[in-house]
Amino acid sequence: MKVSVVGSGFVGSTAAYSLVMQGIGREIVLVDHVKARAIAEAADITHAVPFTHPLTIRAGDYPDVKRSAVVIISAGVGQKPGESRLELLQRNADVFRDCIPKVIEHAPDAVLLVASNPVDIMTHIAGEIAAECGVPSSRVIGSGTTLDTARFRSLLGDHFGIDSRHIHSQVIGEHGDSEVLTWSLATICGLSLEEFSEVRGIELNDAVRKSIDERVRKAAYRIIEGKGATYYGIGSALARIVDVVLHDQRSIMTICSRIENVAGIENITISMPHLFGGEGVMASIPLMLDDSEQASLKASATIVRDVIDSISL
Ligand code: 2OP
Repeated sequence: MKVSVVGSGFVGSTAAYSLVMQGIGREIVLVDHVKARAIAEAADITHAVPFTHPLTIRAGDYPDVKRSAVVIISAGVGQKPGESRLELLQRNADVFRDCIPKVIEHAPDAVLLVASNPVDIMTHIAGEIAAECGVPSSRVIGSGTTLDTARFRSLLGDHFGIDSRHIHSQVIGEHGDSEVLTWSLATICGLSLEEFSEVRGIELNDAVRKSIDERVRKAAYRIIEGKGATYYGIGSALARIVDVVLHDQRSIMTICSRIENVAGIENITISMPHLFGGEGVMASIPLMLDDSEQASLKASATIVRDVIDSISL
């Protein structure tokens, strides 16, 4: 029931806070290359514990991650002025090259949960480094489009006036501009969205779809414009994923993980519905998409593949 977080910036520390608020796990260790930051975040979150659940949270170094069931990797550097996305990616790949072997040295049996962006690529890189250390790719997962799926469900819930937890819909592909909202497979109470619209007399036309699509796809941009970063949504998504692993819940979520073939693109790390539990990923679930969704998924996987090919691992 131990969880470690490597990189205790906004995302890592909010994930830890979310774990504490929900009583997930018994012990949390925060590791950061700026030790004072990890100490301060751990102290701040500790002061929430008397109002929530009895667990311990403390700052530590790599040896302190030992016996963690899950290690969240939210480490990474920010973009420098004038720096390209690819240059940033290369620097983050170098950060992972440094930290992943240290995590595996001390917690060889942990599931690694990557949250650093661009998450598909960073999870792929983590998977490569982990494989060199003897860890199977099934134990390296990323938050992927779990947050985008939550955004999609939340907006559909708003539109239909129902609890978003009763909406089954998924966003797959890249966690980014090319992601794919699987409208054709979305259901509420076993009914397609069109059937549910008819039953409830709530219109679902192209304008509504376009608006929801845009608000899901651009959500992070809008939030970042307003407050500089996103962390509550992703922190909650990470806590939920950790819960699944700690309790071997065998849930199906749109996390990202290494997949042999997605829409004809081979050896790719991208989000699809994944069945996973205490040991990591058990299966990636292929979907019966319509033609346009299938083409969009292929385009999305191609974008991710091209970026992977352009960096040196
Ligand atoms: C998000 O989608 C930026 O990945 C972050 O909120």
